[in-house]
Amino acid sequence: MNLKKLYIDFFISKGHKQIPSAPIVPENDPSVLFNTAGMQPLIPYFMGEKHPYGTRLCDYQKCMRTTDLEEIGDKTHHTFFEMLGNWSLGDYFKEETISYSFEFLTKVLKIPVEKLAITVFEGDKDIPRDEISASMWKKLGISEKKIAYLGKEDNFWIAGETGPCGEDTEIFYFRSNDPVPDYFDPSDERWVEIWNNVFLEFYKNEDGTVSELSQRNVDTGMGLERVVAVLEGKDDNYETSIWKDIIELIEQLSNTSYKDQPTSMRIIADHIRTAVFVSADPAGIKPSNTDQGYILRRLIRRAIRHAKKLGIDVNSNWELQIAHLVIKQYKEYYPELEDNQQVVLDVLESEKKKFGRTLEKGLREFEKITKNLTNQKIDKDLAFKLYDTYGFPIELTVELAKEQNIEVDVEGYHEKFKAHQELSRQGAKEKFKGGLASTGEIETKYHTATHLLNAALKIVVNQDTHQKGSNITSERMRFDFSCDHKLTEEEKKQVENLVNEWIEKGLPVIKTEMDKQTAIASGAECMFIERYPDIVTVYSIGDISKELCGGPHVSNTKELGHFKIKKEEASSAGVRRIKAILEETK
Ligand code: ALA
Repeated sequence: MNLKKLYIDFFISKGHKQIPSAPIVPENDPSVLFNTAGMQPLIPYFMGEKHPYGTRLCDYQKCMRTTDLEEIGDKTHHTFFEMLGNWSLGDYFKEETISYSFEFLTKVLKIPVEKLAITVFEGDKDIPRDEISASMWKKLGISEKKIAYLGKEDNFWIAGETGPCGEDTEIFYFRSNDPVPDYFDPSDERWVEIWNNVFLEFYKNEDGTVSELSQRNVDTGMGLERVVAVLEGKDDNYETSIWKDIIELIEQLSNTSYKDQPTSMRIIADHIRTAVFVSADPAGIKPSNTDQGYILRRLIRRAIRHAKKLGIDVNSNWELQIAHLVIKQYKEYYPELEDNQQVVLDVLESEKKKFGRTLEKGLREFEKITKNLTNQKIDKDLAFKLYDTYGFPIELTVELAKEQNIEVDVEGYHEKFKAHQELSRQGAKEKFKGGLASTGEIETKYHTATHLLNAALKIVVNQDTHQKGSNITSERMRFDFSCDHKLTEEEKKQVENLVNEWIEKGLPVIKTEMDKQTAIASGAECMFIERYPDIVTVYSIGDISKELCGGPHVSNTKELGHFKIKKEEASSAGVRRIKAILEETK
């Protein structure tokens, strides 16, 4: 059974359009490292922006949750997972989405109604009890006894701290061979959540207040790995068809069986699969000591440690074999895996080489340290030494220590790490002084050029075209914008001509500070209003452009030279990308 296909076909039959999975590293949202839910790339559309594919969407989306990375190893958790989702952008609401969910589960997947149970929001002082959802479930045949009313912690959903949010109704499945109880008890672990329907009606602001959105949306999410386990009657996700080949390969590589070493095998399978998806992502993440790169490093190093534990020869190409299998299994759905296959293999191999050189010595050092401990505690200096000399991420040291009931001074370690970072930053500054100044000038020019390009697109393409992201190097600028078609040669020429006309006019670039509301009222353009502080900087270029922006910019457009579009291509659904350069004027 191909769950992804069944799901997409079903929602297409209900008037939805399939959108492609967004990258796993968000393109325009620096507030999160990875997309954690299918709704995340759609945030602007819940807030009123028109989606080029319409008001009913569905997809399968690459997602990642890493908050409890060290917990991976049990039967049901994964770092990377696929989420099936359908959305209404100001279109249908509670009754329709509930009936779609019910029909899909009971008619398409043929899940018996008795095995389903539901939670709905019980209401609080601001939002009433969700009787609409409850009565719809009853109408469809869910017994009253299988509906539980719960509070905000359970039945109110938001992706992070701020953003679109609302009450939800969650669908549970009885995953057990025991007889199904008459009453649904949400704390009984045999009931597992399989699908969430969220009613995004509100927006949570930074100051904690909640305002109503201009439209009522539906956001649903179904974890693919979990539902496959349910359908295949397994209580261990790693025993399903999704993981079967990968686990078998690890069994072969290690010459042990899954039932003897489930934890390490799950960790290796999960972490290598995730590392493949992260390194194949267009963002080009490489293992490093910060942000996404650090997660990637921890995943690969933790997998290597467990491979060693299973007796796999870590110097063989075991990780590449697993990666090949992952790519083979998923490339039909995520072509970037095959397109970037070489990058993925290089990332895995070079990180393994780096860590492999020190792992053995580090483990010996760890043994030595733990033997000589007097108080069952690894202090900050030892923890830092394991990191600095042997490349042990602190989380790895903690994990190793835990196996022997030893504590680690994690806080002290972090202090030491920070102090160390500060020292190397100062060193780096000294080293590059001067050299970077000229690079900064070129980048500043490109920055101003993005504002001109943004303004030109609004004139040539249409007024509703918005910036969706940008990236500048000393060589070129990249600019993403909302647009439902490939620009014609004529449009590209017009955009170039306009930008060059403004450059030649020598327009002044003026910086002013004002409060956010005044800036918006004056028509200043911005990407994510909620991310700006109350007092904002606005850059105006003549009377053709006004944007909220941190700068820096040139003071007059005549400094820019000649603007030339090198490439125009698709970026993601409804988003186009322009790569352009500035040439010196002849
Ligand atoms: N965005 C909702 C979730 O992740 C559907 O549960």
